[in-house]
Amino acid sequence: MEIIIQASAQAATEIASRTIAHVLRRKPHAVLGLATGSTPVQLYKLLIDMNLDWRQVSSFNLDEYVGLPKAHPQSYHSFMWANLFKHINIDPQNVHIPDGNAPDMASHCLAYEQKIRQAGGIDLQVLGIGTDGHIGFNEPSSSLGSRTRIKTLTRQTRQDNARFFGNEDQVPSHVITMGIGTIMDARQHVLLAFGPHKARAVAQTVEGPITAMVPASILQMHPDTRVYLDPEAAEQLQRSDYYRWVFEHKPLWQRV
Ligand code: F6R
Repeated sequence: MEIIIQASAQAATEIASRTIAHVLRRKPHAVLGLATGSTPVQLYKLLIDMNLDWRQVSSFNLDEYVGLPKAHPQSYHSFMWANLFKHINIDPQNVHIPDGNAPDMASHCLAYEQKIRQAGGIDLQVLGIGTDGHIGFNEPSSSLGSRTRIKTLTRQTRQDNARFFGNEDQVPSHVITMGIGTIMDARQHVLLAFGPHKARAVAQTVEGPITAMVPASILQMHPDTRVYLDPEAAEQLQRSDYYRWVFEHKPLWQRV
């Protein structure tokens, strides 16, 4: 894992946006895995401002609420169009977001996995992290080998996401999410975490044992994961001085 601690969320997001832009310039038909929530909003703004060519890019979103109409303002479908897709020249046919209203969920989940494989696999996966250590909506105790399926949100996650819905009771209890195995198949990960409320999950993910109780900790097994942090999200890391030193002394050839 590469741990990149910057002076602000904005500075960390700028570096992350350059990594993504580099992938899109090198591979015009890249396959991106995308996340929703508060964390990547600024990242998407920066990518929009870069005027990249998205015509051949394919995207696969991590997750969607079950039972929420697509047009609901808090559906991840609405989020992605409002915050990214409507501002770029991506072909709508190349956009994939799990359908939280699919009549046959089991076949829909299987088909989602197949579509990712048919597209050639995910080149770069953008990730946020839950305060309970989830990635996608793989909550603690999710199988580390899981594939796309329905999951039940924890009370903690519903409380965390109540800010989008007005109150916790309005937050759907079920979601469809890529599995941890699906996420681990991506060639590269860009994980963003900002704010003191993420500090514990970040420390457990980076420096704790690999455990299904902190799903993001499996990323320790991935050969190319970069974790972008602001000082608040990094504050419980034991080795933050080392991570800062490594980043500041990176040889030129490593700086992509
Ligand atoms: C969203 C997703 C989740 C979020 C996480 C953090 O597609 O997969 O794992 O990344 O819940 O959410 P925010 O960024 O709102 O703190």
